[in-house]
Amino acid sequence: MGKVALVTGGSRGIGAAISKALKEAGYEVAANYAGNEDAARAFTAETGIKTYKWSVADYESCEAGIKQVEADLGPVEVLVNNAGITRDSMFHKMTPTQWKEVIDTNLSGLFNMTHPVWSGMRDRKYGRIINISSINGQKGQAGQANYSAAKAGDLGFTKALAQEGARAGITVNAICPGYIGTEMVRAIDEKVLNERIIPQIPVGRLGEPEEIARCVVFLASEEAGFITGATLSANGGQFFA
Ligand code: CAA
Repeated sequence: MGKVALVTGGSRGIGAAISKALKEAGYEVAANYAGNEDAARAFTAETGIKTYKWSVADYESCEAGIKQVEADLGPVEVLVNNAGITRDSMFHKMTPTQWKEVIDTNLSGLFNMTHPVWSGMRDRKYGRIINISSINGQKGQAGQANYSAAKAGDLGFTKALAQEGARAGITVNAICPGYIGTEMVRAIDEKVLNERIIPQIPVGRLGEPEEIARCVVFLASEEAGFITGATLSANGGQFFA
């Protein structure tokens, strides 16, 4: 049996590519998802990867979900905090609900998922935490005060926890994808995407989910043990942090 990897938001978009790449690399993968049952069923049918439904925004659900994954597959050694949502709006129109939903999932979700696996990783003296932040947490994005704040928070979380985990053999790193060709990005108004966003990407195209998945496989490996607290940007040259 390989090491167990748990990927949040792991049945769609970038997360699905991550789950598949980790499976190909020999991990026993559990893919968490929040709501889209049809997509999860189709994903399991296609890949054989087991899916688990809970919201990363709720601490008790995370505790219970992780307990189930560990009962089924064994202790989680690799956690990929990938689940994320957008509620884009210019700030003057942003509602408290739009703010809260994004912070609860994209920032508090990292606490809710990492806290229940942390003690086990410390006891076993091994772990890999990989947080999927965003280019927009690095540079900020108009229309995304909520998302940019949460994703910047993910980077602070990564750096603090990297210091705490180092002596226990746990690495904590972040990946900042740029604009990747997923449903989330394709939901942006086509005119905004084509006229305002793609022209800002020097390689001249959206990224592929697999280009992020390969970064995850690298950071998850035992060989990456000297890399911790790092931010790996994969954005087609759009922003140099
Ligand atoms: N900088 C400054 N001002 C801007 C701006 C920018 N980048 N973009 C728009 N504005 C201004 C407009 O010029 C306009 O000004 P006026 O009212 O003076 O004319 C005003 O803001 C309103 O613009 P819109 O007509 O676009 O407003 P809207 O309410 O129709 O749409 C929006 C707002 C939904 C946020 C839309 O602009 C949008 O979708 N923007 C893209 C946001 C984005 O990049 N989201 C990323 C999603 S993918 C993701 O998050 C994955 C990842 O990690 C990369």
